[in-house]
Amino acid sequence: MSKRMMQAIRVYQYGGPEQLKLEQISCPEPQPDEVLVWVYATGVLPIEWKIRQGLFHAFNPATFPYIPGSAFAGVVEEVGSLVTTFRSGQAVFGRSNKGTYAEYTTVSGETIALKPESLGFDEAATISGGATTAWEALFDHGGLQAGQRVLILGAAGGVGSFAVQLARWKGAQVIGTTGAANVDFVRSLGAETVVDYTSTPVEQVVHDVDLVVDTVGGQTLESAWPVIKRGGRLVSTAGQPSKEKARELGIGALPKRRGTHKKASLPKPPERLVLEGNFSEQTLCHSKQATCMPPKWP
Ligand SMILES: NC(=O)c1ccc[n+]([C@@H]2O[C@H](COP(=O)([O-])OP(=O)(O)OC[C@H]3O[C@@H](n4cnc5c(N)ncnc54)[C@H](OP(=O)(O)O)[C@@H]3O)[C@@H](O)[C@H]2O)c1
Repeated sequence: MSKRMMQAIRVYQYGGPEQLKLEQISCPEPQPDEVLVWVYATGVLPIEWKIRQGLFHAFNPATFPYIPGSAFAGVVEEVGSLVTTFRSGQAVFGRSNKGTYAEYTTVSGETIALKPESLGFDEAATISGGATTAWEALFDHGGLQAGQRVLILGAAGGVGSFAVQLARWKGAQVIGTTGAANVDFVRSLGAETVVDYTSTPVEQVVHDVDLVVDTVGGQTLESAWPVIKRGGRLVSTAGQPSKEKARELGIGALPKRRGTHKKASLPKPPERLVLEGNFSEQTLCHSKQATCMPPKWP
């Protein structure tokens, strides 16, 4: 029997977007605990270009050639012999560590969920990137509780826009920073206070927060130290908070663990974000990070 072929984008060496090569390759076959998914849409996350440029080479070198992408939504094509929770034809979304810039990907049944009917495929493909990162930062690393004050730096972004909604859903008091153009948008997501970072230094107007989630890094991350109360926490998805400074100020600080295309995982089932949360479809689906691929590539 001839092997099924598919189109996929592969990267053979570190570099810019010119390293993305569209090729015809063999379709992967699912292991007994995996499903084969026809990929309708894939998220395009900042980590994709960082891996492609070789920024993670020192601690997690890429194995070439590799298929970029991890967040996806699609339709189950085939299930492995040990998978009992999914069947072919079901619309699903989640995270694969085998690459999703392809017509098909294989993925453990543990890291996908049924796609809610209210979400389109392109919308669902955004969730396992920004939303799970926001969830981990707020709750797994940040320990956010109802009634606490949280500051989200970069509140209009792919991670920040989910973080605002999730923190609000938890019952926290949410403060977000964004540029002038997105102030109303961030407020509409649930932030009680929105600081326009282009006109107001956040440390001048915000104090005594229990948790800062930084998604910007650099000087923005540095500006966060004075606003956190002693015993509070700082979690960054974009930089390395100084351990010395954290010790000196009595603050728990850590970078949120970085996933890679080889180690990507989905610690929280994505349906939890959809079914427990009280999001409007419009806000849940906002993300600048998703692009939708056509149902079948030409
Ligand atoms: N997306 C993911 O799944 C994911 C996962 C793990 C880690 N990360 C990392 O998290 C970081 C953010 O990712 P992202 O997807 O959220 O990026 P993004 O969508 O580009 O969002 C970044 C946001 O930062 C805002 N910003 C820029 N300068 C700022 C400043 N000085 N103060 C406050 N806000 C500022 C921008 O808001 P305005 O438009 O309002 O200026 C922009 O919306 C990246 O380093 C990424 O690698 C992302």
